[in-house]
Amino acid sequence: MKIAFVGKGGSGKTTLSSLFIRYLATTGRPVVAVDADINQHLGAALGLDEAEAAALPAMGERLKLIKEYLRGDNPRIASAETMIKTTPPGEGSRLLRVREDNPVYDACARSVELDGDTVRLMVTGPFTDADLGVACYHSKTGAVELCLNHLVDGRDEYVVVDMTAGSDSFASGMFTRFDITFLVAEPTRKGVSVYRQYKEYARDYGVVLKVVGNKVQGQDDLDFLRAEVGDDLLVTVGHSDWVRAMEKGRPPRFALLEDTNRRALRLLQTAVDATYDLRDWQRYTHQMVHFHLKNAQAWGNERTGADLAAQVDPGFVLGESLVATA
Ligand SMILES: Nc1ncnc2c1ncn2[C@@H]1O[C@H](COP(=O)(O)OP(=O)(O)OP(=O)(O)O)[C@@H](O)[C@H]1O
Ligand SMILES: [Mg+2]
Repeated sequence: MKIAFVGKGGSGKTTLSSLFIRYLATTGRPVVAVDADINQHLGAALGLDEAEAAALPAMGERLKLIKEYLRGDNPRIASAETMIKTTPPGEGSRLLRVREDNPVYDACARSVELDGDTVRLMVTGPFTDADLGVACYHSKTGAVELCLNHLVDGRDEYVVVDMTAGSDSFASGMFTRFDITFLVAEPTRKGVSVYRQYKEYARDYGVVLKVVGNKVQGQDDLDFLRAEVGDDLLVTVGHSDWVRAMEKGRPPRFALLEDTNRRALRLLQTAVDATYDLRDWQRYTHQMVHFHLKNAQAWGNERTGADLAAQVDPGFVLGESLVATA
């Protein structure tokens, strides 16, 4: 299951992603955590110290390796150089699974231990000014989008992505790559305006969007969110002393997280799991092709000097059946 946490800067995306990752880890299910946010803080939120976080390998710097591996011997993709972030898999491509070892994980993922459970963490690497607001070849989140487009994840397998609600994810197809998108919103006009914008983009693509209210204190906050986002409001989280202690660099055991917040996390998992039966791999594949053709036309063909529409394998549909016997 693929889950995105998006929202305005400072709303609590990283905090809630990290809590959800910790929660999923306690259930014993495999989890891949991905930091695709402009501010790379997920490692720290998962308890890494500064040196450990700084030593994480950046996916953005390993794009060539990722592309070489994923293209496999797909005859429609002539070289890694002509593979852009939206290039879809086809016959011959290598697919990724949540539970496996592969060269992409070897190069880009690190194991993080959370109170005895282990998750994989991957990070895009720090963004620079040149990365922001451009739908370009070098986009840091491109590495994540490629991996998501080649990922075949099953029920009870989780990929949690901490990302922005920025234009980068709309320029590509990134925002359509998830079973569910949690939009973290504080009960403020700004928090809610990001929700509206996201909802607008998502409307035509069948994106499952749920609002997670954060830093919600009392009835007035709750009423505000309910009035602004209606039924899209899934759950709210209040101030957490556990989070505050972690921010001080003294993370208590996760078992000590407040009960109300643990219940909120359980609700998130229930919402995620409920989307499994809504999955439509055909639509998922069509959407990646749609965004690929759009990006090819807008900049990809010119940049690579190739006709990238030819990379599309018309008969290919991603899905669990492709890896069932592997
Ligand atoms: N429920 C909470 N209880 C206590 N502190 C919180 C809570 N949610 C977020 N915070 C604090 O608010 C600050 C911002 O949260 P966080 O870094 O998770 O936001 P973000 O959306 O990831 O921000 P950015 O856009 O900078 O990546 C952090 O100091 C975090 O510890
Ligand atoms: Mg963050």
